[in-house]
Amino acid sequence: MLFCFVYMFVDKVQELVSKCLQARDMAYCPYSRFPVGAAILTADGAIITGCNVENASYGLTVCAERTAIQRAVVEGHRQFTAIAVTCDIKDSFVGPCGACRQVLMEFGPNWTVYLTKPDGSYKETSLSELLPLAFSPVHLAKD
Ligand code: THU
Repeated sequence: MLFCFVYMFVDKVQELVSKCLQARDMAYCPYSRFPVGAAILTADGAIITGCNVENASYGLTVCAERTAIQRAVVEGHRQFTAIAVTCDIKDSFVGPCGACRQVLMEFGPNWTVYLTKPDGSYKETSLSELLPLAFSPVHLAKD
C-alpha cells in the first residue's frame, strides 16, 4: 500500500517535470531567446503550465512561473503543492527569479520546487528555502 502511494507520487513528479519541459517549448522569447517552462501541481492533483511571454516593450515580459500562477488562479486553483521550472541551461539547476519567488509566496510557503534541467533531472528544494524571511499575506493580517 505504502509502495503504491510512493509509486503514484514519483509518477506525479515525473509528470510535473515533463509538463514543465513541454511548456518551455511554447515560450515566446524572441528578444532574450531564453525559454523557460513551469508546471504547477495543485492540491487537488491538477497540473497547470506556463511559459515566459516577452514583449517588444521589454519590461512587460511575464515569466513562466507567473504565467502559470495566473492561469491556475483563473481556473479556480488557490492551493498548490509544487512547481517544476526549467530552462535551457544544462550544467546547473536554475531557480525562479526573485519576483516569481514572491508571487509564489502569496499562496503559502510550503511549496516543493523542482529545479529541472533539460534532460529531466531535477533538484528538489522548497519555496521557504528559496525565499527565507519572506514578506507574505500573514504580515497584512490585522489584530
Ligand atoms: N524568466 C522566467 O520566465 N522565469 C524566471 O524565473 C527568470 C526569467 C524569463 C524572463 C525572460 O523572458 C527570460 O527568462 C530572460 O530573462
